[in-house]
Amino acid sequence: MQSFSDLRDLIRADWRRNRRHRKSRLILLAFRLLHPLAVSGPTIRRICWPLFMLYTILVEWVCCVELPLKTEVGKGLLIGHGYALVVNDRVRIGENCTLRHCTTLGVSDSPTGVPGPAPSLGDGVDVGANVVIVGGVHIGSGARIGAGSVVVHDVEAGATVVGNPARPLVRKASTASKG
Ligand SMILES: CC(C)(COP(=O)(O)OP(=O)(O)OC[C@H]1O[C@@H](n2cnc3c(N)ncnc32)[C@H](O)[C@@H]1OP(=O)(O)O)[C@@H](O)C(=O)NCCC(=O)NCCS
Repeated sequence: MQSFSDLRDLIRADWRRNRRHRKSRLILLAFRLLHPLAVSGPTIRRICWPLFMLYTILVEWVCCVELPLKTEVGKGLLIGHGYALVVNDRVRIGENCTLRHCTTLGVSDSPTGVPGPAPSLGDGVDVGANVVIVGGVHIGSGARIGAGSVVVHDVEAGATVVGNPARPLVRKASTASKG
């Protein structure tokens, strides 16, 4: 179980990073307060069921952000705009990551119907708008995922990837270096 000071640090870090996104502040506040209850024993989970339902109604149905309460999320998550974000509960998100609108972090389909593996994000990963990251891929710390990308392979730490399927960004040589 998280200590009170850990919880306070998480909330402060989220609050600072989402200063331009008030809705995201509230979503993350609710997430941080209820996450420890959602990952505790069955008795507490049964007692807290009405709170979980309230979270589902307000965050998922009203705000259109699916951030399941069991998801592992490091401190300082920035949720840009706070619309149409879908995160599977088996996703792991490191510290100080950025997720934007119209983005999905999900499991891959499996022919047996058993959910496949989910993505994991290192620290400081910046995910652009309209991105899909699917399957058991790992996004290394400090990586940037360009807007509109579909990520189905691992991304190296510090890399920038774009496109569908996302590939490392190849920059044109500058005019000066062409001579
Ligand atoms: C991928 C990204 C991080 C790269 O940023 P950058 O390092 O500053 O790169 P540049 O803008 O200089 O672009 C470099 C090249 O990549 C291309 N590129 C940039 N972003 C791209 C993207 N999302 N998809 C495909 N190509 C992209 C550019 O066209 C340019 O190509 P060129 O060299 O052939 O002209 C950034 O473009 C991006 O997509 N950020 C997401 C931000 C976002 O979603 N904002 C929403 C705010 S509401």
